[in-house]
Parts: sequence; C-alpha cells; structure tokens
Amino acid sequence: MSKWDERYQTEEYVFGTEPNEFIARIEPYLPSAGKALDLATGEGRNGIFLAQHGLDVEGVDMSAKGLEKAQSLADEKGVRFHTRLADITAMEWPSEYYEIVTSVFCHFAEPTRTQTMQKIVSTLKPGGLFAGVFYHPDQIGYGTGGPSDPAMLGTLTEMQQALSGLEWVIAEHEVREINEGIRHRGMSSFICLLGRKPDHQ
Ligand SMILES: C[S@@+](CC[C@H](N)C(=O)[O-])C[C@H]1O[C@@H](n2cnc3c(N)ncnc32)[C@H](O)[C@@H]1O
Repeated sequence: MSKWDERYQTEEYVFGTEPNEFIARIEPYLPSAGKALDLATGEGRNGIFLAQHGLDVEGVDMSAKGLEKAQSLADEKGVRFHTRLADITAMEWPSEYYEIVTSVFCHFAEPTRTQTMQKIVSTLKPGGLFAGVFYHPDQIGYGTGGPSDPAMLGTLTEMQQALSGLEWVIAEHEVREINEGIRHRGMSSFICLLGRKPDHQ
C-alpha cells in the first residue's frame, strides 16, 4: 500500500471536505460549464467544488483509497465526479482539452516539475485557466505540512517559469496560518497561482 493510501485509511477526510481557500477564492473566475481536471485530487475536496459549479470534472490521483473517499464525498454532495487512478508523471494528456486545471499541494522536483507544468499548459484550451497552490521552499522551516525535501519546492519565480506560456491573473507568495484538515495546519509559506492560457499562442 502506498504512503498516501495509508494516510487516507481513516474515516476522517485528512484535508477536510471544504475546498482549499485559494480554490474557493477563484470562484468568480470559474467557467460555468466545460471540462476540468483536478490533479492530485486526493479525497476530492477541490475537484468536487468545481463539479458543484457545473463543471465536468475528472480527479486524478495515484491513491485508490483517496479516490474511493472522493467518490463517497461526491455522492454525499450529489454531484458527478469522474476519478482516474494514475501517476500524473506517466499519464496521457489530451491536447487543448480542458477549460480549467487545478493542482493543490502536489510537488515534483526538477526536471519533472517543469515537464508536468508544461503538460498542464498544453492540455488547457486557449483561454483556459490553471489554478495552483504549492508550498514555498521556506515551508521546510515551518514543519506544518508538505514535503521535507526542499528540491520538491519552487519559489514563486521558479513556479512561474515552469508554467511559462500562461498569463498571470494572480501570482502570490503568502506566509500565514492555514487550517486544512489534520495534515496542513499552522503558519505556512505557500504560493498561489491563477494563470490564463492566451487565446492565440
Ligand atoms: C498533499 S495531498 C493533496 C490532496 C488534494 N490536492 C487536496 O488538496 O486535498 C497530495 C496528493 O498528491 C497525490 N500524488 C502525489 N504524487 C502523485 C503522482 N505522481 N500522481 C498522482 N497523484 C500523486 C497523492 O496521492 C496525494 O493524494
């Protein structure tokens, strides 16, 4: 059983059932229909939030247990939510397919980080949005969640470079307290990005 399957082996939703604060904050930018992809959906809280707004959402994760809990949460909230058990770094990405891609607290070291971020840019339709939340390298000092290997974490500039090709609507580095379930709690250093793929590239 994987590390994440073990972490999700509890009735409790370890990141809660409400969306991440930034994903809730970008609600005014969300399209009212179309295809969405929530990368590393875990127990589904962010993807299900998008589905509640009328989007046709697929949540991808490599934890079967997380996806099982995501499906239960979607049923409870009365929305359709498609789940795909896959490794983000090895899966197929359709070209120019999604209206929006989201990714919350999923981190990769280079070169996988830039490769994955560029797959996100390619899979967005022209005009499509990417919303991402990532821990900043400073987070290591806080010990309130996220990877312990700094190579997994990028600065705001590094994340924007990895996602080159997007135009930035919001690009922020925040240091403040968060409270997202039992695993991400306390003073934290993180990056919030909302980018739009230009209509003509
Ligand atoms: C910190 S959790 C965040 C879950 C969710 N995004 C949230 O905010 O509630 C990280 C998730 O990334 C998933 N993950 C990490 N690496 C992955 C990969 N290469 N492919 C698919 N899922 C991955 C884990 O299984 C885990 O569910």
